[in-house]
Amino acid sequence: KERVFSGMQPTGSLHLGNYLGAMVNWIEMQKTHECIYCVVDLHAITVWQDPKELKNAIRQVTAAYIASGLDPKKSILFNQSQVPEHAELAWVFNCVARLGWLNRMTQFKEKAGKDRENASVGLYAYPNLMAADILAYRATHVPVGEDQKQHLELARDIAQKFNNDFRDGIVEKGYADGIFFPPPDPVITGPATRVMSLRDGTKKMSKSEPSDMSRINLMDDADAIADKIKRAKTDMEPAPPSGLEELGARPEIDNLVGIYAALAGISKQAALDLLISTATEGPSIYTGLKRALTEVAVARLGPIRAEIIRLMNDPAEIDRILADGSKRARAIAGPIYAEVKDVVGFVRS
Ligand code: TYM
Repeated sequence: KERVFSGMQPTGSLHLGNYLGAMVNWIEMQKTHECIYCVVDLHAITVWQDPKELKNAIRQVTAAYIASGLDPKKSILFNQSQVPEHAELAWVFNCVARLGWLNRMTQFKEKAGKDRENASVGLYAYPNLMAADILAYRATHVPVGEDQKQHLELARDIAQKFNNDFRDGIVEKGYADGIFFPPPDPVITGPATRVMSLRDGTKKMSKSEPSDMSRINLMDDADAIADKIKRAKTDMEPAPPSGLEELGARPEIDNLVGIYAALAGISKQAALDLLISTATEGPSIYTGLKRALTEVAVARLGPIRAEIIRLMNDPAEIDRILADGSKRARAIAGPIYAEVKDVVGFVRS
């Protein structure tokens, strides 16, 4: 049976990378699949979060999910800390995963930076919790951006090692094929699986980048969006790329074309054609593309922003939605984790 799981961290406001890299696919999959979408607050505290701001951020990300088109009646929307099975299964996975596997995780190296001795243990074990998120529901499909690919490979490795380590008990429980946890498939598709910074085409758009000009936030108003796109970095080449291959070698232009394609719902080639047909001589080669991009970005994000603001007026309603989602999530994860206890050899009543 196919089941979708994915999540976002409530750290700062969501941006265009989160929206185009993940959310657009979440919404699409909601039409055809049973979907579980999580606000991963346990992951957020792997780096320091001000408790008062965290509460607000959890509600705002929930509001952003709904405002973007997720339906809390259809899909399960909840926050991770209300379903204890995530943390419990993560502990079991801490004992399944190997140090060597985690040592290879590039995101830990980036996030821990030079002062690795001072990074939290949680930041290091983060991918095990992510594997628990997915496997607590036996999710088969995980729509994410490109940057989560390595973490998903780890989740597959954990599923496989768990199945091997506990094979006898798993078969005894009635899983004749020995598959207790199906290895989950990443879903990384669309023209914007890796949205880059507007200030540096070699860095991904991110919540943690200090310059706000580097990203378009879902909470940016029309003026902010226009300003950021207008000032987005291009390059010094005298002419636009003539084809997709040349485009690939020009990161800043590639990024703008990719974002435009994703927002307009057209192919990258069609977006490049628009750029070429609107390109003018001189320093304003990209004015036409930037104008078109501003227009689609404002048309798409404006209503989402307005809806987030509206939903945030009633935090109690958001909390109710999360409580309901958490209950439904637990109804799935609870029985699966109970079987994990049997398979691992814990006594339970
Ligand atoms: P997070 O919160 O960093 O990002 C949420 C989602 O947005 C995608 N994304 C991007 N996609 C394209 N371009 C970008 N610049 C960009 N920035 C972010 C991410 O790939 C992600 O899909 N570890 C995860 C959260 C998580 C999770 C999970 C995801 C926890 N448990 C289980 C899937 C399944 C994270 O930190 O995402």
